[in-house]
Amino acid sequence: MSDRRKFVKLSLLGSAAVLGTGSLLAAPRKEQDFEDVLYAPVKDNPIVISTWDFGKEANTAAWEILGKNGKALDAVEAGVKVPEADPKNQSIGLGGRPDRDGKVTLDACIMDEKYNCGSVMCLEHIVHAISVARAVMERTPHVILAGDGALQFALANGFKKENLLTEKSEKEWKEWLKKSKYEPQINIENAGYHKDPMPGGKDNHDTIGMLAIDANGDLSGACTTSGMAYKIHGRVGDSPVIGAGLYVDNEVGAATSSGVGEEVIRIAGSHLVVELMRRGLSPEDACKKAVERILKFNPAKAKEVQVGFLAINKKGEYGAYALQKDFSYAVKSGKEEKIYTSKSIY
Ligand code: GLY
Repeated sequence: MSDRRKFVKLSLLGSAAVLGTGSLLAAPRKEQDFEDVLYAPVKDNPIVISTWDFGKEANTAAWEILGKNGKALDAVEAGVKVPEADPKNQSIGLGGRPDRDGKVTLDACIMDEKYNCGSVMCLEHIVHAISVARAVMERTPHVILAGDGALQFALANGFKKENLLTEKSEKEWKEWLKKSKYEPQINIENAGYHKDPMPGGKDNHDTIGMLAIDANGDLSGACTTSGMAYKIHGRVGDSPVIGAGLYVDNEVGAATSSGVGEEVIRIAGSHLVVELMRRGLSPEDACKKAVERILKFNPAKAKEVQVGFLAINKKGEYGAYALQKDFSYAVKSGKEEKIYTSKSIY
């Protein structure tokens, strides 16, 4: 326990002695109780973590940069570009499942160690949405560009216009059109919790969120997805929303999410996880608390959807927690390369 946290605990015990134990619960919390827990950076010990099994391959690309003392920002961009370019991955970038009108629309954001951030929402025709998000961050005074404006910006900045709808995703979408049942679904790896899984359901993992610490001890994160399959055109999830799908605070840690974006946005999920780590919670406990908040406000809904959080603190400790089982994440550092499955509520 840090000296400051020891101090807070001792001063609370002191109040209890004065007020009596029963009064402790009612005693107003003091501002100092919520002072930041700032971690000393761990230098020369880079690490990258990312959501789902496909994060392993993405981590390898990120490690090419981190392992050579490169910047975390460059590493996370390079890492998530791997699933973005993979047509077999139907939840990110090229080959992503389309919206209900047959359009593949991408959401992505990126954040560095200095609170710089960039985001694109509902971007069509560009494989590497994450690089457009980075361009928004670095080449404009803005944080978010959306829709046609994001596409115009990408084209003006040298990105190539491409068709992102693969034959497989188009075929499955046409199959879905036969019923056109508007029940967007996400993360059906645990197929039991959808009565009527959509075509291709079992492979429907979603977002890649990636967090890295470089040799300098600096943090960055990236998050990119094609979002919910067969969504209403224009629907935006948590992934490009800074504070929801991704948040980085270089003094504390970083968090990212996967799953049903609406539930994550409601609680500003990744920001919440980082703030809980600031108060001293471990990454896993912080992720668990955020998941429990979703459960608390809507237990019926929480049974039917997946949300998973993944977090890392400045010391390089990491952890995850999800509503449903089978939320996996990949870790690569100088010490290990492994895929873990998070604990979950159900
Ligand atoms: N987490 C991805 C989405 O909700 O679109």
